[in-house]
Amino acid sequence: MKSDAERRDIKHIAVLGSTGSIGQNALEVIASHPDRYRAVALAAGRNINLLAEQVQRFQPRAVAVHDGAVAQELMDRLSKTRDTEWLQGPDGVARMAALDGVDTVISAITGAAGLEPTLAAVRAGKDVALANKETLVMAGDLVMQEAAERGVRILPIDSEHSAVLQSLQGHDRDDLRRIILTASGGPFRGSSLQDMSRVTPEAALNHPNWDMGPKVTVDSATLMNKGLEVIEARWLFDLPISRISVLIHPQSIIHSMVEYRDGSIIAQLGVPHMITPIAYALSYPRHLGTPLPPLDFEAIGSLTFEPPDLERFPCLGLALRAANEGAGMPAVLNAANEIAVNAFLEGNLPFLSIPRLVERVMDEHTPCESVSLEEVLKTDAWARRTALDLLDSGMV
Ligand SMILES: NC(=O)c1ccc[n+]([C@@H]2O[C@H](COP(=O)([O-])OP(=O)(O)OC[C@H]3O[C@@H](n4cnc5c(N)ncnc54)[C@H](OP(=O)(O)O)[C@@H]3O)[C@@H](O)[C@H]2O)c1
Repeated sequence: MKSDAERRDIKHIAVLGSTGSIGQNALEVIASHPDRYRAVALAAGRNINLLAEQVQRFQPRAVAVHDGAVAQELMDRLSKTRDTEWLQGPDGVARMAALDGVDTVISAITGAAGLEPTLAAVRAGKDVALANKETLVMAGDLVMQEAAERGVRILPIDSEHSAVLQSLQGHDRDDLRRIILTASGGPFRGSSLQDMSRVTPEAALNHPNWDMGPKVTVDSATLMNKGLEVIEARWLFDLPISRISVLIHPQSIIHSMVEYRDGSIIAQLGVPHMITPIAYALSYPRHLGTPLPPLDFEAIGSLTFEPPDLERFPCLGLALRAANEGAGMPAVLNAANEIAVNAFLEGNLPFLSIPRLVERVMDEHTPCESVSLEEVLKTDAWARRTALDLLDSGMV
C-alpha cells in the first residue's frame, strides 16, 4: 500500500495528440510505469475509434477533441459511463493543456496547431515534453522566454534533441563547441534528381528507420525535418545556428552528438524507437526501464556518415536561411511547408516542387517582428494564403 506522500509523487500527464504516433508511444510509456505516471487528460483530432479506446483504457479526467462533430459522437458513445470533462475545438484543446492538476503536458499534435495549446501549457506553469517542433520553429523566442519567466521546463521528445540533452549532462556549458544533429537521409538519400521527380506519396511515406505520422515522414524525406530541428535546437539549447551542424548517418543509431572544445565528442546511441526519448523526457534526468531490446552492435556492423546534399534536398538550405533571417521567416517556412506537404500527399504537387513552393512564399515575405502570439499567427495565416494562391494559380 502506498503512502500519501508516494501517491503525490505520481506525475499527472496530459497528452496532446494522443491518437498519433508519438501520442500512442507516450501512452505506452505512461502505462508501463503506473507507479509514476497517470494520463489524466487526452486531446486528439478526428480518430474517434482510437480515442474512444484510449478513454476507456486510461479513464482520463478530461478529453479535448478538435473536431466538434467527433466530440459530440464520442460523448454520445461514452458519457453515460464516464465522469469526464469534455472540451471541444482549438480553445478546448488549449484549455485542457492548462487544466489544474496536470503536471506535465506532452505536446504531440502535428503542425502549427500545436503552438497555442503548448503555449497555454507554458503559461499555466506546466512542464512540457515537446514533440511538436513547430512550436519552437514558429515562436521559439516567445515560448522559451515565457517558459524561463515561469520556471517551466521544456524537455525534448525529438530523438536528436533528447540525445543532445543527454550528451550535455555533467558538462560545463562554457566548454561546448557545437552540436551535431544526425539525420538518416530518408528514403531518397541515394536517389538521383530524376528519380526524385517521380516520387509518389507512398514512396515518401516509406521511411527506412522510423515509423512516424505522415507530415513528419514527408519532412524527413525532403530533409525539411532536419531544418526544422536545427531551428528547434537553436531555441532549446540557446545556440547560434553557426554552432549547429547536420550530419547524415543512415543507420539512425547515433541520435546526435555534442562536441566540446578539447575535441571530445559525446554521443547518445540507441535502438531507433521513440519510446526512449519519450521516456527520458518524462523521467529526466533519470533513465527508467523500457520494453525495447538492447542495441546489438554486432548485428549493426558499421556506422557511416556523409554530408547532407543541399542540391538534392534544398528544404534544409531553406530552413537554414529562415533561421538566419529570423523576422518571421521561420513561421513562413513552416506554414508554406505544411501547405506544400499536404498538396503533395493529396497528389496535387510533385515532390520536387515542395521546396519551390516554400521558397516562393519565403521570397514574398516582408520581414516582421514576430514576437507576440498574435503576430506569429498573422504571419502563419499570410504564408498559408500565399502558398494556396500560388498553388491555385499553378505558379509552382
Ligand atoms: N512520430 C515521430 O516519430 C516523431 C518524432 C519526432 C518528432 N515528432 C513530432 O511530433 C509531432 C506529432 O507527430 P506524429 O508523428 O505523432 O503525428 P501524427 O501521427 O500525425 O499524430 C498527430 C496527432 O495530432 C492530432 N491532431 C492533429 N491536429 C490536431 C488538432 N488541430 N487538435 C488536436 N489534435 C490534433 C492527431 O489527432 P487525430 O489522429 O485523432 O486526428 C494525432 O493525435 C509532430 O510535430 C512531429 O514533428 C514526431
